[in-house]
Amino acid sequence: MQTITNWMTQNHRTCDETFSLLEKMLNQQDWKQSAVQLQQFKSELFAHFDAEEQLLFPAFEQATGMTHGPTSVMRVEHEQMRGLFEALEQALVAQDFFELEGELETFHILLQQHNMKEESILYPMSDARLAEPVVMQKQLVEYIEQSMKAVA
Ligand SMILES: [Fe+2]
Ligand SMILES: [Fe+2]
Repeated sequence: MQTITNWMTQNHRTCDETFSLLEKMLNQQDWKQSAVQLQQFKSELFAHFDAEEQLLFPAFEQATGMTHGPTSVMRVEHEQMRGLFEALEQALVAQDFFELEGELETFHILLQQHNMKEESILYPMSDARLAEPVVMQKQLVEYIEQSMKAVA
């Protein structure tokens, strides 16, 4: 059963689609829509990060006994990406196209590498080692839906 893997991978793809739309709007130099889209991307991605940190990572650590393994790397990478948002937002406010394009590219590479590690290691291990992956998957869905509602 790949319950957690399938759903969380799908949620990565949802964030990817929002990101692609942001790039498209930026390429059209539609600053107003780009700003809206950047906030949309931020809330989708941060809801996903928070759900992992609050629910999945602690359960993974408990089930595997690995507290200094993959989850600590993932937490550091989340913090790195959260930090990069400030630069993205500043470049957008300044309407600095080339700066923003560069920042987005860096961000995209980090995110792709991060997601790949989760999809190939952390999520499959969670499905294999958690006592009730189906319950965890439901909790993750609910957490992300609630977070998205809170910012809507
Ligand atoms: Fe993550
Ligand atoms: Fe993730």
